[in-house]
Formats: sequence, structure tokens, C-alpha cells
Amino acid sequence: MKRLAGFSLLYMVLLICFIGGTVFASTELVENEEFKIIPDYMNPFLSIEEKVDKLLSVMTLEEKIGQMTQAERRYITPDEVYQYKIGSILSGGGSTPFSNTPEAWANMYDRFQKWAMKTRLKIPIIYGVDAVHGHNNLRGATIFPHNIGLGATRDPELVEKVGRITAKEVSATGPDWNFGPCVAVARDERWGRTYESFGEHPELQKLLAGAYVRGLQGPEAEMDGEYVVACAKHYVGDGGTEWGSGDGGYLIDRGDVTVDEKTLREIHLPGYIEAIEEGVGTIMVSFNSYQGVKMHAHKYLITDVLKGELGFDGFVVSDWNGINEISGYSYYEKVVKSVNAGIDMFMVPDSWKKFIYNLKQAVENGDVSEERINDAVRRILTVKFKAGLFEKPFTDRSHISLIGSEEHREVAREAVRKSLVLLKNENVLPLDKDSKIYVGGSNAEDIGSQCGGWTITWQGRSGDITEGTTVLEGIEAAIAGRGQVVNDLNQADVAVIVVGEDPYAEGRGDNGRLELKQEDISLLEKVTGAGKPVVVVMISGRPLIISDYIDDWDAFVMAWLPGTEGQGIADVLFGDYNFTGRLPVSWPEDVSQLPINYGDDDYDPLFEYGTGLKMDLE
Ligand code: GLC
Repeated sequence: MKRLAGFSLLYMVLLICFIGGTVFASTELVENEEFKIIPDYMNPFLSIEEKVDKLLSVMTLEEKIGQMTQAERRYITPDEVYQYKIGSILSGGGSTPFSNTPEAWANMYDRFQKWAMKTRLKIPIIYGVDAVHGHNNLRGATIFPHNIGLGATRDPELVEKVGRITAKEVSATGPDWNFGPCVAVARDERWGRTYESFGEHPELQKLLAGAYVRGLQGPEAEMDGEYVVACAKHYVGDGGTEWGSGDGGYLIDRGDVTVDEKTLREIHLPGYIEAIEEGVGTIMVSFNSYQGVKMHAHKYLITDVLKGELGFDGFVVSDWNGINEISGYSYYEKVVKSVNAGIDMFMVPDSWKKFIYNLKQAVENGDVSEERINDAVRRILTVKFKAGLFEKPFTDRSHISLIGSEEHREVAREAVRKSLVLLKNENVLPLDKDSKIYVGGSNAEDIGSQCGGWTITWQGRSGDITEGTTVLEGIEAAIAGRGQVVNDLNQADVAVIVVGEDPYAEGRGDNGRLELKQEDISLLEKVTGAGKPVVVVMISGRPLIISDYIDDWDAFVMAWLPGTEGQGIADVLFGDYNFTGRLPVSWPEDVSQLPINYGDDDYDPLFEYGTGLKMDLE
């Protein structure tokens, strides 16, 4: 009895302390596991700021530098996460567990997290992925139109829903951080990342960036549970580089932005201002340079403007080994310059040991101050606390069934419909569901091309890469029981020819010609030569040069990169819905006009920014 009385007295004492929210002494009061001491920084009665202060105050330099380090899953083992106190892991584009199922993702995430939680201070990792149009690394996930198609919708409520669903499908498999939305303002369609942008005019980033962040993080920037931490990228000016100034072996990607600061602010900052307004947790620095200075070393724009003037209080993450591209310095000097420029976390996928070693040297040499380290770690820990990672470090697998669900795919189908832009229609649309339809073209039956880059693999690829509905399947479903898809052009009442690009990502998509594929040109010649009405649908990440061909077409629809729900295109072609999309970029008459943007003096495109026709459905 005495022993029981002793324990209940002790329990009462602890309970009073806990309720009183008094500061816990870190003494070993009892051995019994039931009464394990909760570390000061986990006291639920403290504010996040107080928890961060307490945690920071007991961290060693090694633990702090570990938090600033992000490794890629293929280049680190879970026990090394423990050994080096690593703060973050990422999956690069297409970097999936072998079986690439939701369960395998959750098991992978939890294995890394288990080892992080074995560290002295039990600071959880934050795991980042590029879910730039759905959880696009995961087979079977809902894949939405890429951002350029969302730009054509000009629909923030829809974009928020896209972000919301993306967050649900990502968090159901473990990862808690999405390297999105990309708020680039694509000023030159020759850039391989044009499709990652909402479009060429900052009014689109103003309209949609905050909505996407809200969808990902939650209306109050909760960032926890079914929400994830968002990342506005790539700061700043990634879409404004000069053709021919590309870096890393590319023609324009990662190049130099030469406009004056007033223009840089007017065109390329608005998306970040909106994201910050929405409480975005992270911002990723861009590979490009501004007036010859690499952004990864740009202290004025990162520290003075982004953190100071704009008041960004989340953390800044570098891009993939982005510090390596600060030319002209040793690796040690690149680390010093980029940390002192204001970057807080370093995406050093395969070079994380080298980074840790050099940053430790830099602090010990006094080249990087403890104050700068503490600022970076404070920002990182604050986001982790906000994201609920300390309280719930492991995957909540209860929502795995939502992944690729009919409900989610219906939203993606709506997004496809609203992204379509009608640019020509000479009384041939809407199509009649009782007609005989010839369907052809390189992208008529290709899920991989519909999705484009950043899908299952980094570059994406043509073919049957994931579950979804092709344009052809959508047309077949729309006319089932009434009309017929015919293989013989001569039997057809109308031809639908789906042309466009093969998938690509980043600088590999830099392209100075923007031509149609020869196979599509040849088919179009054959079809128009047969005297049949021709509806051309383009599936590509940007406008292609069509001036020499469009006169022979009866109708022309731009579908961008619609993702898995290709039936959204048939929904509109047959008039179940009207077109509402409008061009988010100018359509050049010829590549010699590029870059061409709304507001240019000699602005004379084939189709102007904002163009979009409707069908007469009366
Ligand atoms: C890439 C991209 C960036 C992406 C990161 C991680 O190089 O520039 O958008 O988030 O690496 O995959």
C-alpha cells in the first residue's frame, strides 16, 4: 500500500507540474517508463517560439548543422540520419521506393523517421517531394494539369482544391513537404520549365500562388495532418532568363536575368508576396543569376529583400546542389557565401557529408557566425513545430484509400475542362456524339505525354506510365452507344488529331524551334488533304509554331499538359461543357518573335495573351 501511495503522490506532483506548465527540471525523478520526463521543448503549454528557444539552447553545433542539411534518399541510410542528426530527406524527381506503392512510401518515410527519433533530442526529419501536379512520383496518384494549364483556368478556388488534394495524397504516404508551387513567370516559351509556370503575366501568380499554398498548407497555414508544408519556387526570376545565357549545359534554364530591379520586382516578385501572405513555410532559391550574380549567393535579394523587406519568416532551401554552381570559388567558399547569403537548409543530395564538414569548419574559423546558424535552425525548427512533426512524426496511413480516388479524379477532370483554350472554331465544335470520328496524332493515346515531365520519373516519358484516361478513351466513352471511332478516315464525318510534345523537364526542355513533330505534320497533311473537317488538339507544355498549318484546320484547341484525366477534353469537345480557358502566355507567330509578352511595344503574336473562344451551345 505504501508503495502505491508513494506513486500516486508522485503522480499528483507531476500532474500539478504539468498542469501548471512550470518548467520541467531535467532530473531523473523516476525510472518507471510510465513517468518518462517530457523534454522542456515538448511542453504543450509553451508557444512554438518558446519551444524553439528551449530546443535551440540545448543543441550542439553538430546538431544544428545537421538540421541545415538535406540528403536525397538514395544517398543516405536511415542510421546515417541518426549518426549525423540529419534534418531533412528528399525524393528527387522519380526517386521512389522500389515497389512505388503508397505503403512502400509510408514504410520508407517511417524508417528514416524512426532513426531520426533515436537521436539525443529526437528532432524529426521533414521529408520533401516534388508534387508539382499531384503526388506525381507515385504510380496511381491523381495527376492534375501542370501549372500552365491551371493558369489558363484563372480559377483560384479550383487551384486551391488541386493543392488540397495533392496535400492529402502526399501526406497519406508520409512526406510532409511539397516543393511547390512553382511561381515562376515564364517570359520566354523556349524555356523547358514554361509549363511549371502559371503564365507570363504576374497577374496570374497574384491570382493563383496564394490559392495553391492555401490548398497545400490549409486555410490557417496549419501544415499538419492532411496538409503539407509548401515551397514557393524558384526565388527569384527563374522564368526571366536570357536565351543563350543558360547554365549547367542548358540554353536558357539557370541563365541570367538582366532586367533592372524595378522590372524584376514588378514581374517576378508578386507570386512570392502572395505566398508569404498565405504563410508559406519555405521558399526555394533559384539556379539562375540576377545581373551576373548567382541567386544562391545573393545576400541582398535573399536576406535584405525576402527576409527583411518582405518579412518571410519560414526557411529558405537551396536547390539541388545549387551551391556548386556558384562559380569561381572553392567548395568551402561556396558554403560560406551561400549560408551567409541567407539560405537556411541545403539540398546537398549526395554531398551532404562534405557540406557538413565544410560548414563546421566555417563556423570554427569564424567565417560563418553562430548567430547565422541559430537563425537558420530557428526557422527550420519553427516550421517543423508548425507542421506537427514533433507530436506526430510518423505517417498517418488512414487516408491511403483516397489516393487516385474517383472523387479526386473528378476534380482533376474539372481542371482539365477549365484549362482548355479554344483558339479556332469554324462551326465544327461541339462535335456530334452520333458521328463517326477518326482519332489520330502522336498524343491521342498517350498518358505519359498527357502528363509531361515530373511524372513517375523526373523527365516523364511517353507511354502507359500510370493509371488514367487517354484523349481517345475519353472520346470513345463520350460517344459509346451512339457514335463510333473509325480507323478509316474515308468513313469519318470528322477527324480529331492530337498533336504535341514528348515529355521533358527542366533545361532538357529548352528548345529554340518549338516545331510540331514531323509525324503529326504528315498526318495533318493527309487528313486535311482528304477533305474532312479537322479538329486539332495540342498537348504540350507551351505553344508550338503552327502558323503554316492552322489555316487548314477547322478547329484548334490548346490542352497544355492535362494529366491523367484525359476525358476532360471529350467533355468539352462534345459540348457537355463550354470552353472557359484563356491563354496564360502569348502565342508566337514565329520563334523569331521570342520572347514575346503582353505589353511589349511591337506586340504582334499569332494569338494574344488572354485569348479564348467559346462554342455556340444554344
Ligand atoms: C530540381 C529542381 C527543383 C526541385 C529540386 C528537387 O533541380 O530545380 O524544382 O524541387 O531539384 O527535385
